[in-house]
Amino acid sequence: MKRAFAITFIFFLCSFSFASGFRPVHADHAMVASIHAEASQVGSEIMRSGGNAVDAAVATGFALAVVYPQAGNIGGGGFMLFRSASGEVRFLDFREKAPARASATMYQDAQGKVIPGLSTIGYKAIGVPGSVAGLVYAQRKWGKLPLARVMAPAIKLARDGFALTYSDAQTLREEKLGLFPESRRIFHRNGDFYKPGEIFKQPELARTLERIAADPEDFYRGGLAREIAAAVQQGGGLITAEDLAAYKAVERTPIHGTYKGYEIFSAPPPSSGGVALVETLNILEAFDLRANSPRSAQGVHLVAEAYRRAFFDRSEFLGDSDFVQIPVAQLTDKKYAAKWRESIDPARATPSAALKRPAFAELDRVAALHALYVGPEPENTTHYSVVDGEGNAVSVTTTLNDVFGSRVTATGLGFLLNDEMDDFSSKPGEPNMFGLRDGVANAIAPGKRPLSAMTPTIVARDGKPVLVLGSPGGPTIITTVANVLLNAVEGGADIQQAVNAPRFHMQWMPDELRVEDRLTSPDTIQLLEKMGYKVERRNYWGDAECIAIDAKTGERLGASDARNNGKAVGY
Ligand code: DON
Repeated sequence: MKRAFAITFIFFLCSFSFASGFRPVHADHAMVASIHAEASQVGSEIMRSGGNAVDAAVATGFALAVVYPQAGNIGGGGFMLFRSASGEVRFLDFREKAPARASATMYQDAQGKVIPGLSTIGYKAIGVPGSVAGLVYAQRKWGKLPLARVMAPAIKLARDGFALTYSDAQTLREEKLGLFPESRRIFHRNGDFYKPGEIFKQPELARTLERIAADPEDFYRGGLAREIAAAVQQGGGLITAEDLAAYKAVERTPIHGTYKGYEIFSAPPPSSGGVALVETLNILEAFDLRANSPRSAQGVHLVAEAYRRAFFDRSEFLGDSDFVQIPVAQLTDKKYAAKWRESIDPARATPSAALKRPAFAELDRVAALHALYVGPEPENTTHYSVVDGEGNAVSVTTTLNDVFGSRVTATGLGFLLNDEMDDFSSKPGEPNMFGLRDGVANAIAPGKRPLSAMTPTIVARDGKPVLVLGSPGGPTIITTVANVLLNAVEGGADIQQAVNAPRFHMQWMPDELRVEDRLTSPDTIQLLEKMGYKVERRNYWGDAECIAIDAKTGERLGASDARNNGKAVGY
C-alpha cells in the first residue's frame, strides 16, 4: 500500500516540470514561478486540479506566508495585477494603511528628531495589514475554486510542517527576531535554532489560516480582528479593531504604456513602479537598443540615464493618490519623455545634481505643491508569477517591508506583522533608517498608504500576454523589472537568461550607478567609469520570478532567479 502510494507520488512529481538555473522551465499548460519550491508546487497543483491562475496565485500567496515568513505574509500587504485570458486587466491594491491614530510626527521626539528604529522594529512600525483582504478579494472575484480548497495546502504546510532548506534555516536565525519573545519562540525555537532538513511546524499559524478559510471576515471584523488589535496594543502599537474593520482592498486603474509594439501593464500609485517603468521605457523607445545591447556599456549608459530621469520624477511626484495629486498622465506621456531624452548626452553621464526637469505644463503646477524626496529603500519582499492553461496571467508582489517585517509575531496567532510604516517619511526631508528622504507627498496621515516601489507587470503583444514580471528589492524592483524586460525584448535573451543577466541600478540620488560586481564585465565597468559614472559595486540583488509565453507555441516558460533558491513549476 505504502509502496503503491510512493510510486503514484513519484509519478505525480515527475509529471511536473520544475527547475531553476540557466534554462527556463518548459510547460504546455500552466506555470508558477516563486522564491520557494513548496509554494510554486502548491500553485501548480491547484491549477492541475481545476483552479485558474488566480486560484493558484492565492494558494501560492498563502503558502508563502508559511514557507517564506521573511516576506510571504498575512501580516503585510501587496499588489496583484491580473490579466484575464480575454484581455481584461485589473489591478488590486492591498497595501497596508496607517492606523487612525498615526500622525505625521509619530516617529519624532519632543525636539522633532526622528527616533531611530521606531518605524522599523516593533509594534509602532506596524501598518494595518492588507494581504488577507487582497487575496480573499481576488479569489472571490476572479477565482473558480472555494477559498477553503485554495487555502488547504498552506494550512497543511503550517500544521504538518515542511523540511527546511539550508537557506530557510539560515534565514530563521535573523537576529532581531530574538527581541520579541513570541517570534523568538516560534522562529528561533528559543535559541535552539532549526537546522536544514528539520521539519518546521507552525500550529498557531495553521489555526489562524483555518479561521480565515472558514470565515475571512473574522480577520477584519471578528474575533481574529480583536485578537490582532489586542496583540498589537499590548506592545504599544496603534492598530485598533476599528482600523481593521475599516480596511479594504481596492481596485485601481493599472498603469498602461507601450514600448515598440508591446503593451505594458503595471502598478499605479500608491506604487511608483508602473509610472517609473513606463516613463523609463518611453525615454528609451527612440534609441536602438538592439545595436546598443542593454548589456553593453553604451546600452547600460542609455538605460541608466532613463532611470535617472524617471527616478527624479518619482522622487518629486509619487505618493498615495487617495491623498496627494499625482500627474500620472503627464509623467507617462511620450511627449514628456521625448523632452527628457533630449537632455541625454550619448557619451557622458549627466550629474544628478545638474538634472533639470523639462518644462511640461501640468507637471510644473503639481511640482509647486510637492516637496522633494530621495533615497533607497529597505530589503525584503517577494514576487510570484502565474499563468494558467487558458491564458489568464497573474503578477503579485507582496511585502512585510524589512526582512521579517517589524519582527513582531501576533501573540497566539503565529504570524509576523509588517513594518510598512517606514515606507512613509518619518519627517519630511530627513533620511529614515534606510536613507529615504521623503517630502510631504509621502508624509504619514491616518488611513494613508505608504509609497511603494513594487512593480508587478504584465507585457502583452497582439492582444496576448507574453511576459509576467516582478521582483523584490525596494527601488531596485523598478530597475530589475526594466532590466529583465529590456533583456527579453531587446537583448535577444530567453526569459531565464533575461532574469539571470547582470543588473544595474540608478535612482537619481545618490548619484551612482549600482552594478552587480561579480556578474558584470570589468571592461564594461571601466567604460562606464570613463563616461563619468561613479560605479557602486554590489554583490547581487533582487529575485525576479518571471514567466514568458511563447507566442508561436503557447508554451509557458518559467524563470526563477538563479541568484536564489526559488523554483518555477509547471505542467
Ligand atoms: O513597497 C516597497 O516598495 C517596499 N516596502 C519594498 C521593500 C522591498 O522590496 C525589500 N525587498 N527586498
